[in-house]
Amino acid sequence: MRKFLIPAVFVIVAIIIAVGGRYVILGGHDSAAAAIGGPFTLTNHKGEEVTEQDFRGKLMLIYFGYTYCPDVCPTGLAAMSSALQMLGPDADQVAPILVTVDPERDTAQALATYVGHFHPSLVGLTGSPEQIAAAAKAFKVFYRKANPEGSSEYLVDHSSVVYLMGRDGAFLLHFSHQTDPEAMAAGIKKFL
Ligand code: NI
Repeated sequence: MRKFLIPAVFVIVAIIIAVGGRYVILGGHDSAAAAIGGPFTLTNHKGEEVTEQDFRGKLMLIYFGYTYCPDVCPTGLAAMSSALQMLGPDADQVAPILVTVDPERDTAQALATYVGHFHPSLVGLTGSPEQIAAAAKAFKVFYRKANPEGSSEYLVDHSSVVYLMGRDGAFLLHFSHQTDPEAMAAGIKKFL
């Protein structure tokens, strides 16, 4: 009997460790999935390589979109710009950022022209498709090319969320592109 008992105890302990380990791994994964933001390496609209560290000490107001977007992105970026104007000199504490989901067309040069239409401090970020995919994944942003019927031009379906991140890069709040600039300014003000 003892001959079988010892291996049986080993098997039970092994199962407990395996199941427990799996639980811990999945638990860790789930809490990571809830976190928004994280490290990124991209190129700004001046052609300089930047990382999330370059924005430390400022609140980041970050939006993922693209310059060919017909209406959603311009609405969101206009709201961000108006909110910053409402903050007056305190807007210096905020880094407004547009990360492109269309790196193929949104070169640094294309972004430079585009961000100039909205706010003088708006930073456009682009990168390789892999760098953009990694940044979008960190911010839980979905995007996908979509060809309208009979058109050679493509649109990009994408999540439209304006994230407010803390001076340490941690997620604080989110807005939509339809949030009133007044409400956006009020939300930012809480963290100034
Ligand atoms: Ni858009």
